[in-house]
Amino acid sequence: MISAIIAAAGSGERFGAPIPKALIQLGDRTLIEHSVSALSSVADQIIVTAPAGYEARFRELLGNTVTVVTGGATRSESVRLGLAQVLCDVDFILVHDAARALASRELAQRVVDALNSGEVAVIPGLAQSDTVKVVDSDGYVVSTPDRSQLRRVQTPQGFTYGVLQAAHASGSEATDDGALVESLGKKVRIIEGEERAIKITTPSDMATALSFLGDATTFSTGVGVDAHHFETGRELWLAGLHWPDETGVEGHSDGDVAAHAICDALFAATGLGDLGSNFGVSRPEYAGASGTALLKETLSLITKAGYKVSHVSVQVIGNKPKIGSRRVEAIAALSAALGGVEVALLATTTDGMGLTGEGKGIAAIASALVFKS
Ligand code: CTP
Ligand code: MG
Repeated sequence: MISAIIAAAGSGERFGAPIPKALIQLGDRTLIEHSVSALSSVADQIIVTAPAGYEARFRELLGNTVTVVTGGATRSESVRLGLAQVLCDVDFILVHDAARALASRELAQRVVDALNSGEVAVIPGLAQSDTVKVVDSDGYVVSTPDRSQLRRVQTPQGFTYGVLQAAHASGSEATDDGALVESLGKKVRIIEGEERAIKITTPSDMATALSFLGDATTFSTGVGVDAHHFETGRELWLAGLHWPDETGVEGHSDGDVAAHAICDALFAATGLGDLGSNFGVSRPEYAGASGTALLKETLSLITKAGYKVSHVSVQVIGNKPKIGSRRVEAIAALSAALGGVEVALLATTTDGMGLTGEGKGIAAIASALVFKS
């Protein structure tokens, strides 16, 4: 039996994001989801160490087949906390960094193959192309190791249960588990690593990582605009909400310009026509349809075509209604209609100029970022 421990409890200080590094999105999923997906076909049990306070978020993302434990103050400490959760009949353990999100399942399999052939510790490594210097604390070179003997090592690293347990028994610290096994005097076997197992450390590593995703994920953007003039006696629907004290606008549907602009932005990003061609007057079943119903329908159409929505923003342009006090409510309504995606809602006037500035109606402009895997 094989268990995998994924160290994901770091804060990602060098990356500098406001959320833990393992929760950063890379293409269609977070770093931790990439890592779990690569190891899940190789390991029978997956244990993830999460930063304190983020355990519930990790469980929500990863589902209940993954064991989530709170990590420690250092990587080695986190691995030890993971090790305590390993099932008792385990033969091999893979230890992986969530930060090496794109390490492939083939690499994990090759680590396991080497363990099956009798190795007790197996770590992937790549040749070192730069010359490396050993320096002293004053910044003077002490020596130049022979480059051909150097390897840049990666994860997943594989160990027999006994060897990894012994390596961690002393509570020592190291930046990888291979180093702890070396200090036990056990043989550590290097196998060929892979460039795509790059450790994502700073934001600039994301571009490299994305290049490994290649055509797997393509992003596209779209812009949509809508405007309707006020019509006395109609109810106002805007940004998914009913505005009881405001004048409504004319329209084939409920006249929600914010929702309509978002629909068009989504159609523009996906090349699937526009509001008119999908829900226009030739489709009487959409007469009077609410903005949120059209958003749901648009989401369903673009989902069928293989797209996912990354982000949507919409700006309402007009003198009234004042959006501010209901912004949160409106964002929740729009986001719910789009299956929970991130929505930004802004509002502006046009300084008395143009049709909406003269108070004749309301307009909205939206943008959408979508991707296809
Ligand atoms: N890690 C961990 N527990 C810690 C520290 C690090 O599980 N206390 C994990 C990280 O989440 C990461 C892996 O160990 O997946 C490698 O560490 P690193 O790339 O250094 O990540 P961070 O420690 O999060 O980043 P930084 O050092 O920039 O803060
Ligand atoms: Mg670190």
